[in-house]
Amino acid sequence: MWLFNSSIGRKVVMSVTGIALILFLTFHCCMNIVALFSGEAYNMICELLGANWYAVVATIGLAALAVIHIVYAFILTAQNRTARGNNRYDVATTVNAGKVEWASKNMLVLGIIICLGLLLHLFNFWYNMMFAELLGTSFGHLPGDGFAFIIDTFSNPVYVVLYIIWLCAIWFHLTHGFWSAMQTLGISGKVWLCRWKIIGFIYVTLLMLGFLVVVLAFAFKLAPSLYCYAGSCC
Ligand code: HEM
Repeated sequence: MWLFNSSIGRKVVMSVTGIALILFLTFHCCMNIVALFSGEAYNMICELLGANWYAVVATIGLAALAVIHIVYAFILTAQNRTARGNNRYDVATTVNAGKVEWASKNMLVLGIIICLGLLLHLFNFWYNMMFAELLGTSFGHLPGDGFAFIIDTFSNPVYVVLYIIWLCAIWFHLTHGFWSAMQTLGISGKVWLCRWKIIGFIYVTLLMLGFLVVVLAFAFKLAPSLYCYAGSCC
């Protein structure tokens, strides 16, 4: 089938899975913002997304999207390098080199940093929450107490720095990935390509700021929810 065999087919798969992952991140960011204002409300959402069958099915679907996106990224990169042969670095030495975005040349490296950050993140949260619940056990806090895991994670400055680096890598990856996906899907043309670049830049920046605010608010103990938690409400 052309989606697997042709170069454009593989790019379409990368684009569609990439956009689906951005949609997941949008939902995830909105959910995290709730933690800024109410620990109870945040934990209610975590309970809903706990080890219930629909949440487990959604997690498997999400994992499948991520795996397909990553596997295709390696296939496309290998294919591009084979096609360009020894000339694969020429782009950086041409007069147009300045026009080639840094992120565009480093999508695979950025992707690898993002994957490493994701493994750490899944250990911090998914393992302690959904996985613990599936095992019928708890690691430190009750599996549904996502709020407590956020407080724990971001009270450690090492995690704060690692998460900030991770979010920057995601920002670079997505600002390029967003318009590139639109271009692949044919929703472009010269004018629209320029517009998608601006729309993508604004959207992805707001998205990453949403995550960053949560990290910093808990790191510096500024989240309003911290003053109204576990019965001691302001
Ligand atoms: C920086 C702030 C973030 C916080 C506080 C946070 C918090 C959480 C929490 C509490 C969970 C567990 C939810 C549950 O199992 O009920 C979770 C899961 C997850 N997070 Fe995050 N997250 C953050 C950023 C991110 C980012 C930037 C990404 C993606 C690059 C991400 C990807 C995921 C994934 C894939 C899961 C597993 C989802 C599932 O089980 O279906 N998170 N996160």
